[in-house]
Amino acid sequence: MTDQHQERIAAAERSLRTVRDRAASDPWRPRYHVAPPAFWMNDPNGFCFYRGEYHLFYQHHPYSPIWDNMHWGHVASADLVHWRRLPIALAPGDDYDRDGCFSGSAIEKDGKLHLLYTGNVWTGDDRDADLKQVQCLAVSEDGVRFEKWKENPVIAEAPEGDIHPFHFRDPKVWRHGGAYYAVLGSRTKNHKGQALLYRSEDLKSWRFISVMAGGREGNGYMWECPDLFSLDGRDVLVLSPQGMKPDGDKYLNLHQAGYLEGRLDYETGKFEHGEFAMLDYGFDFYAPQTLLDGKGRRIMIAWMAMWESEMPEQRRQWAGAMTLPRELRYERGRLLTVPVPELSALRSSPTVRERVTVEGETELPGISGDCFELELLLDVGQTKSAGVKLRVDPAAGEETVVLYDRESGKLLLDRERSGQGPGGVRRAPVTVGADGLLRLRVFVDRSSVEVFAQDGEIAMTARIYPGAGATGVRFVGDGPLRIVSLRKWELARSLNRAGEETA
Ligand code: FRU
Repeated sequence: MTDQHQERIAAAERSLRTVRDRAASDPWRPRYHVAPPAFWMNDPNGFCFYRGEYHLFYQHHPYSPIWDNMHWGHVASADLVHWRRLPIALAPGDDYDRDGCFSGSAIEKDGKLHLLYTGNVWTGDDRDADLKQVQCLAVSEDGVRFEKWKENPVIAEAPEGDIHPFHFRDPKVWRHGGAYYAVLGSRTKNHKGQALLYRSEDLKSWRFISVMAGGREGNGYMWECPDLFSLDGRDVLVLSPQGMKPDGDKYLNLHQAGYLEGRLDYETGKFEHGEFAMLDYGFDFYAPQTLLDGKGRRIMIAWMAMWESEMPEQRRQWAGAMTLPRELRYERGRLLTVPVPELSALRSSPTVRERVTVEGETELPGISGDCFELELLLDVGQTKSAGVKLRVDPAAGEETVVLYDRESGKLLLDRERSGQGPGGVRRAPVTVGADGLLRLRVFVDRSSVEVFAQDGEIAMTARIYPGAGATGVRFVGDGPLRIVSLRKWELARSLNRAGEETA
């Protein structure tokens, strides 16, 4: 008997090979962020720690650089830094997932890796209304080759009640007290985002417990990609609500990604929680997913793009990338997101400066590039505004600005003059104490910038598309700016040009 699933995967791999070199030679191609070898990527899926390795799957269209018939791409890593590409894990085409293997998650059971994902079928032309979504299982003995469960789907219908019958997707599975639980993204019949809780003994037969949270005004019309976990004694529900209204500096992207902190009652299935909070104040951060690793760390990765944004790399046969893996921690009474320490393995050619005072716009020797990490401790107690310009090309008028404004207490990320692609400015509140010190960590990787302030209190992420000549870095202050310390490293390529590990 022919294995149609494996044949579809082989066809997708052949398609990728036709444009892989073209995509790989693009100067916007990230060197240390996971990106598809060619064509389209969105949400992280099945992010898990399995047999001593990190596995990351992703929504993938291996036939063009636009979103369409979803497959699951796959990479694995021993250290969250050097990734090796594995064959596509899931291809759509069975009755229940004919038009896409949508987002989902992974868990180990009896030594096998189990993927729980959403099968999508279009039932008409209106992609927002004419769809049927069911939950499916696929299993692998080796973590590489996956077989769909022969009795799919494992959840064939959305539950009764005030639950939309078709927008019903993105199962995230975990184990608790001897059973498996899954949280799913949903909306009420009149379009208020909510999350559903399910329970199973064996990952195959699932029982609906309750609407876990949501269904209220103000939190968007649909919750996508929910993820529930406990962290330092609290429960955290990460979610990606569609359709939240802008509120000051918050919710300015087309869709949002954030979390609710509270307590899940596993008996009633109800999650009592506080206010929705942001996980990243930048432009390009969506559908985050987390794992718990062998060291007990909760690590999050997200799609570093935004729905409906212009993505200039599409003209170069690829689209989308993942953020850096960020560890989640509760400290100082808040949730911090901190890039994993393993990333320091990429550092080389350090430049260190201490106690430098600059004025106006200043370049410092050895500090430039399009692929580097910068660690800054700035004294912002006296200046009105202070920060750093990245990817500067004065001739082309290009720059990406990271600036702290003392009066408003906000950190600003400005990509109005970053180059091609969308512009815009984002602002985030940062706490600067009486010592006046602002600690910034900035990661630049060719077409991305990630800024972390005050050891993970605030993260801001942006895709940018400067010209290859935009490699300047300038320190800026309104008045004399005291750089208490500065460290800069070149970051090595951890993926080869085709998106595979170099080591
Ligand atoms: C989130 C999302 C998910 C869905 C997937 C489809 O970005 O819309 O809800 O499963 O993307 O690719």
